[in-house]
Amino acid sequence: MTGSRIIGTGSALPRRIVTNAELAQKVDTSDEWITARTGIRQRHIAEPDETTSTLAIAAARAALADAGVEASSIGLIVLATATPDNTFPATATKVQAALGCNGGIAFDVAAVCSGFLYALATADSLLRTGMAKRALVIGAETFSRILDWEDRTTCVLFGDGAGAVVLEAPLAETDAGSPGILGTRLHADGDQHDLLYVDGGPSSTQTVGHVRMRGPEVFRHAVVNLADVLREVLEDTGVTADQLDWVVPHQANARILDATARKLGISPDKVVVTVQDHANTSAASVPLALDTARKDGRIKPGDLVMLEAMGGGFTWGAVLLRW
Ligand code: ACO
Repeated sequence: MTGSRIIGTGSALPRRIVTNAELAQKVDTSDEWITARTGIRQRHIAEPDETTSTLAIAAARAALADAGVEASSIGLIVLATATPDNTFPATATKVQAALGCNGGIAFDVAAVCSGFLYALATADSLLRTGMAKRALVIGAETFSRILDWEDRTTCVLFGDGAGAVVLEAPLAETDAGSPGILGTRLHADGDQHDLLYVDGGPSSTQTVGHVRMRGPEVFRHAVVNLADVLREVLEDTGVTADQLDWVVPHQANARILDATARKLGISPDKVVVTVQDHANTSAASVPLALDTARKDGRIKPGDLVMLEAMGGGFTWGAVLLRW
């Protein structure tokens, strides 16, 4: 049976844009290095009055408007973030309060850059069991708040933002062409913790900590894991790589996107790339890219769209859906 359907998308970005050239005035780096190694040209960085919840609320409102549905119809909010406003309660509950749809289910998931995929799969499962009829699935981050701005190997790579989708329970009757989620695979490998992590937290250091990463190792794992999980979802669903209309990947590095697409024989023209404008926004990157490609008319009804991401943990996953 075809799973839940995305009926609206939205996104929000902080007001302030920081270009590579501006960053190079504060950090020992250059526009040439960042562009050549990552494809990133700029990122949005939150101002003091902008938080993960304010971005999430703006993205959620945009997704509701796009879907043409009222906030009161939302019975489930799943918000993926590694940078919540508070250690608790969940940032999802702040979104719920702002939208005025209290009483349903609201919680956060922590799977870092794969967070939106984990959140989407969780929401789809809950909708399939009848726990709610309509959900908001959000990826929202203010990664700038956990960056070590003295560490040029990490601080140039990330940005802030939020993306959201309205997800509706599966149709009662579906056929091969029906819109909805066709296949999902999620994975984690806790042995790879030390390659990408934050060196703080409430229970360990009582601090927020900073992002630490062994970039070249992460790069190698990303290409292998992402190609493998895409193959798994294609096999599960009987869809071939050349039947895909769009791949919407986590936007970490243009070279990871190129290498993964090449491994699977997917044309670069079918890969949605926003990393040049947003940098790596962790859990927000897939829904931000999805919203971009839908609003500019690339993704159309009936299209086969593959979402994929990998992040700290490691965690990784892919979701195939028909738009
Ligand atoms: N500016 C200038 N020079 C730099 C910078 C910088 N910002 N950062 C590192 N360098 C230098 C290094 O010091 C090194 O110098 P050396 O040769 O004198 O020692 C040189 O550049 C090369 O460094 P490498 O780390 O080998 O560079 P690499 O080509 O691997 O690129 C990068 C680094 C961009 C981090 C790459 O490894 C990468 O993208 N990895 C994936 C990491 C990632 O995207 N993580 C996000 C989360 S996980 C995910 O989303 C999949």
